[in-house]
Amino acid sequence: MVQMLAELEREGLDSLAGVKDADALERWRIEYLGAKGRLRAAMPMLKDVPKDAKPAIGKRLNEVKAALETAFETKMQAIGGGGEARASGPVVDITEPGLDLRPGRRHVLTRTVDEITDVFARMGFSIAEGPEVEDEWHNFTALNIPPDHPARDPADNFYLRSVAKAERTSDLRMLRSQTSTIQIRTMEKTKPPLKVVAVGRVYRPDTHDATHFSMFHQIEGLYVDRGVTMIDLKTTLFQFARAYFGEQAEVRMRPSFFPFTEPSAEVDMKMKVRGEWQWVELGGCGMVDPNVFEAVGYDAEEWTGFAFGLGVERIAMRKYGIADIRMLFENDARFLRQF
Ligand code: FA5
Repeated sequence: MVQMLAELEREGLDSLAGVKDADALERWRIEYLGAKGRLRAAMPMLKDVPKDAKPAIGKRLNEVKAALETAFETKMQAIGGGGEARASGPVVDITEPGLDLRPGRRHVLTRTVDEITDVFARMGFSIAEGPEVEDEWHNFTALNIPPDHPARDPADNFYLRSVAKAERTSDLRMLRSQTSTIQIRTMEKTKPPLKVVAVGRVYRPDTHDATHFSMFHQIEGLYVDRGVTMIDLKTTLFQFARAYFGEQAEVRMRPSFFPFTEPSAEVDMKMKVRGEWQWVELGGCGMVDPNVFEAVGYDAEEWTGFAFGLGVERIAMRKYGIADIRMLFENDARFLRQF
């Protein structure tokens, strides 16, 4: 047995010296160290060894085993992997391209809202809020929109129950059709002077096309103080346009009508659209109508104010060159990750 172990060790180490690659190494491992390999086959022979020689032979068997295993480990490192580790462990291919992990980002509309409110905050406006489910008082009545006004038409609004059946009471609920509701809510709970902007979703049953959606966002501005004039209004919109669309941006006001402002105007801003400066209509504005002040308990003789309401999607579309409003709501990651 002593002789056999010496041969096993010598042959094993000799043949390992000739191993050149991982496949040959694995064959060597199976032949010498495997479960049915030569070392394992030698072990049962120990029981036939005379009792007094057993400790020495057993010790020699362990030495041969250790020598073969150490030589195998050294060879495996020299070749670079392989052996059992390669057969059973995870394989790391460092040349394989990595996973394309993209960081999350704000939706382009959220980003636009943040940018716009940031500009107005720097101009001294604080942020106001109001509910999306409104009553007729805040959406119409307090805004000087009389009961028979076409703006209240059920075909143009999302009422929360059938208007035909409902008595016209102040508890008739609807999804707000404009953020001007927040003007009323703010004035009801705040004494003048005040200077606020509010951004939020509004709802109208408009047919969807490239520039219209049934849910969109508006930014509302309201400034009430003594002696506020149209010049303050135009200056504020002008400063916003310059800060947001660039140093060459312009503001134009065209006479218009809103029941809650007098005089009223449409607001256009001149901005760069796909490389060219163009006039773009963004919303409405005007001086707060005295009837609105009366509805919220402000003294119209003492206080004056301006208000404006701009479409946020229209701003985002021009700023970021988005041709169709519907793309903003499709949640197509390929589109959204451009911004
Ligand atoms: C209003 O809603 C007034 N409340 C604005 C206002 C506020 C006037 C304060 C005076 C004082 P108008 O209905 O025009 O106005 O809507 C304002 C803007 O919202 C439009 O110019 C447009 O930019 C945007 N808008 C209107 N309808 C849609 C729609 N269906 N989809 C996307 N944007 C829209």
